[in-house]
Amino acid sequence: MVQNEINTASGASSLLSVSNLVVSYGHIKALKGVSVEVFPKEIVVLIGANGAGKTTLLSTILGLNTPVSGTVTFEGKRIDKLPADKNVRSGICLVPEGRGVFSSMSVLDNLLLGAHHNLQNKDKNLARVYEWFPILKKRKNQIAKTLSGGERQMLAIARALMSAPKLIMVDEPSIGLAPIVVNEIFNILVMLNKEGYTILLSEQNAFKALKCAHRGYVLETGTVSLAGTAERLLSDPGVKAAYLGA
Ligand SMILES: Nc1ncnc2c1ncn2[C@@H]1O[C@H](COP(=O)(O)OP(=O)(O)O)[C@@H](O)[C@H]1O
Ligand SMILES: [Mg+2]
Repeated sequence: MVQNEINTASGASSLLSVSNLVVSYGHIKALKGVSVEVFPKEIVVLIGANGAGKTTLLSTILGLNTPVSGTVTFEGKRIDKLPADKNVRSGICLVPEGRGVFSSMSVLDNLLLGAHHNLQNKDKNLARVYEWFPILKKRKNQIAKTLSGGERQMLAIARALMSAPKLIMVDEPSIGLAPIVVNEIFNILVMLNKEGYTILLSEQNAFKALKCAHRGYVLETGTVSLAGTAERLLSDPGVKAAYLGA
């Protein structure tokens, strides 16, 4: 597997390490031995078509699926047999595909729900989230279903930030959004990364995701077919043909 050249050179140890992960749904093998590493302060993108296994990988890392075999290590500790709520308390969060905000609740109540594992810092985290997402402050009393698609995605990310996570996983943030809004969401992810957050995201929108990521993995039917720096993936002929429309 291609390692992160910068981080391995500096000897940093990974925040998240997934090794030979196999996950099945009945007789369907969704992941067939996937290995992925995320180093502190990186943006890493999982690129793959529909059905490649992106959501399965992210939800298994969180603890929503039990792997058949393989390991998931977070901050040096095995977590692949731990339930999701425990992993959330350890600092992992997942912004699910389709956002997962509670549409009949207000923006503020959605945000407070994200803080329930970290109540002692709720005011500080809320102030920071409002600073990063002024639109959510403006709309704090609005019911979530009245938000635009982009605002709902922002709310989903902001809610995840309310738990002050160490690793933010975002599943297909650009899905269903207009190109200009997609740019806004990716700019937010880059801003959060500059603030020190480590981000693992999945995307079919490979070009834009690779433009903001440090490294990426290409997932094809449950297998990592290629891995490397974003720059390298952007110039790879196979990636260009399959994912960049070149
Ligand atoms: N709950 C499920 N039950 C059965 N099969 C599933 C389930 N979720 C996903 N799959 C299958 O697992 C494979 C990977 O799916 P998924 O992880 O959702 O891929 P992606 O997020 O890349 O689109 C696909 O073949 C999909 O049909
Ligand atoms: Mg998916």
